Amino acid sequence: MDSHRPVMLEEALAGLAVRPGGCYIDATFGRGGHAAAILEQLGDGGWLQGFDQDPEAVATARTRFGDAPNFGIRYARFDALGEWVVETDRVGAVDGVLMDLGVSSPQLDNAARGFSFQHDGPLDMRMDPERGEPVADWLSRASAEEIADVLYIYGEERASRRIARAIVAARVETPITTTGQLAEIVRRTMGRRGRIHPATRSFQALRIFINDELGALEAGLARAAEILAPGGRLVVISFHSLEDRIVKRFIRDASQLKAVQRVLADEQHARDNPRARSAVLRAAELRA
Ligand SMILES: C[S@@+](CC[C@H](N)C(=O)[O-])C[C@H]1O[C@@H](n2cnc3c(N)ncnc32)[C@H](O)[C@@H]1O
Repeated sequence: MDSHRPVMLEEALAGLAVRPGGCYIDATFGRGGHAAAILEQLGDGGWLQGFDQDPEAVATARTRFGDAPNFGIRYARFDALGEWVVETDRVGAVDGVLMDLGVSSPQLDNAARGFSFQHDGPLDMRMDPERGEPVADWLSRASAEEIADVLYIYGEERASRRIARAIVAARVETPITTTGQLAEIVRRTMGRRGRIHPATRSFQALRIFINDELGALEAGLARAAEILAPGGRLVVISFHSLEDRIVKRFIRDASQLKAVQRVLADEQHARDNPRARSAVLRAAELRA
């Protein structure tokens, strides 16, 4: 169980403007921190539909809220939320969609999932272990140029070429199969440790790439805007500039949406949950 407070909980609830009896989607269930608070405001007459592409999150949802009369969970990427809405005849009748992007603390903390350079584990990083390939497999065959592009585009890593060359040189000696090996290669290439681990940006880049996080976000935003009821709310919490840029542009360019809220994380948010340090919340409303 995640001991941290959900990121920007009050702001997310205010952004959603939860209405008792309404229909809401938590597109990134995680461990259900936001979901629990939404359910409390919703009452028995409403419906909260969770989505998560991680089977462990889905299992948590079933254990935690499986008996609730007003909650359902689907094991799917959130760009599939349109399908759920069609199946349940709720097109244009969803009062709010929440997306709390990125990885959850339990995903990061579990070494076996391979997200963390702090805990040694298999180099995987897939949120959905049934989909796509582990980072280790991709890194074993990608060219130095492809690796450098991923590190640069998704991690804004300025040493991308140097790190990519080091990875390609190291894998000739031994296959890179663990997070510890990769973290060490990056650390050796970058030299001295500062306050932030030198592998932070590379791990972020590989995670975003292997999970197609930005592609899923673009598709998910488009689906969400299509299914909202007039006056319905879209609330997105993002954690780095690449995500936030996509959300900001989407809201700006979608003529049916009106921006209603933008919150940047402050020190209190970071104390509540260290993951919130770089968070930005944006909320928009479907014009009536
Ligand atoms: C930051 S956590 C959410 C935490 C949650 N709000 C809570 O309070 O516990 C993000 C979750 O979203 C899931 N996720 C990320 N991208 C997704 C996507 N495109 N589709 C479905 N789930 C996604 C991850 O597997 C993870 O469990």
